[in-house]
Amino acid sequence: MEERKKVIFSGIKPSGELTLGNYLGAIKNWVKLQDEYDCYFCVADLHAITVRQEPKDLRRRTLEILSIYIAAGIEPKKNTMFIQSHVPAHCEASWLLTCSTYMGELSRMTQYKDKSKNMGDSISAGLFNYPVLMAADILLYNTDLVPVGKDQKQHLELARDIGERFNNLYSPTFTIPDGYISTSAAKIMDLQDPSKKMSKSEENPNGYILIMDPPEVIRKKVSRAVTDSIGEVNYTDDQPGVKNLINILSAIKSLSPEEIVEFYKGKGYADFKRDVAEAIVSELEPVQKKVTELLTNKDYLESIYKAGAEKANYVSMKTLRKMQKKIGLIQR
Ligand code: TYM
Repeated sequence: MEERKKVIFSGIKPSGELTLGNYLGAIKNWVKLQDEYDCYFCVADLHAITVRQEPKDLRRRTLEILSIYIAAGIEPKKNTMFIQSHVPAHCEASWLLTCSTYMGELSRMTQYKDKSKNMGDSISAGLFNYPVLMAADILLYNTDLVPVGKDQKQHLELARDIGERFNNLYSPTFTIPDGYISTSAAKIMDLQDPSKKMSKSEENPNGYILIMDPPEVIRKKVSRAVTDSIGEVNYTDDQPGVKNLINILSAIKSLSPEEIVEFYKGKGYADFKRDVAEAIVSELEPVQKKVTELLTNKDYLESIYKAGAEKANYVSMKTLRKMQKKIGLIQR
């Protein structure tokens, strides 16, 4: 019998324009893993609506993210790419898992605490339940590995706990997934405040680079990136701005931070920053061109997300049926 290929699941939510953090922390790793694994990559539109989205922007970004996946090198023939809301089992499984998830666990999620901080009483229950939907996404496909950035680690650990609990309460049902977090790109930091994660929701646009930023904007943002007065390229927590730029270069060029430090010995920040900017531009420019091209071909995109949903529906329904049966729901 042919051995089962290990399964990878990951996703990105279309709640804002994608950043270099999303690209290096997630997408670039996915591209490397696609030959070895059976991969599912979704556009997590249901996660995006846990905070209010303009419908027109949500539609545009959903297709743009799918285009970015393809343009970055994820091959539609080898992988299953789909839009989360096209696969109803995710919501159904999420409810079934919600019933064995504790309020305490969800209240301890740091992302929930951060996001709900300034929301007063109008925090949506969706934001609170967000990690359960993510657990459903992952568990439905008997996922072995989840390639994400460091900020998703706590959510992933909860998904493991929820899966293990279900397996213990009923009987073994889910594979318990491991995280796959790349070293240098695990957490790309804000260019203006390197103590914070690079994020599309930051107010100062000089802090983040968008995947679709034009080359001249990328160059300007890198040249303005905060460094320090030490003037030497070192990989240390005492120079967080420089360290972050080293991590970016390291992830793009597949060089170790030590190799980069060695190369820039005796050179100043100007040379270093110029090289970082050029590395980002040459990495993203071809992706941008392909995205622009793909977005003019809606039929092609539709053929991909439809085929993806068909496969994802088939696989996820099998797991959902098992869950329903074990819980004691009568089969249709
Ligand atoms: P999201 O949309 O916030 O981020 C998508 C991916 O990008 C990574 N990432 C970063 N990595 C390094 N440095 C950064 N500055 C940075 N910013 C973002 C994130 O870690 C993530 O891997 N809940 C998820 C989406 C999701 C999902 C899933 C992921 C839904 N279902 C199932 C894995 C499995 C999210 O909001 O990611």
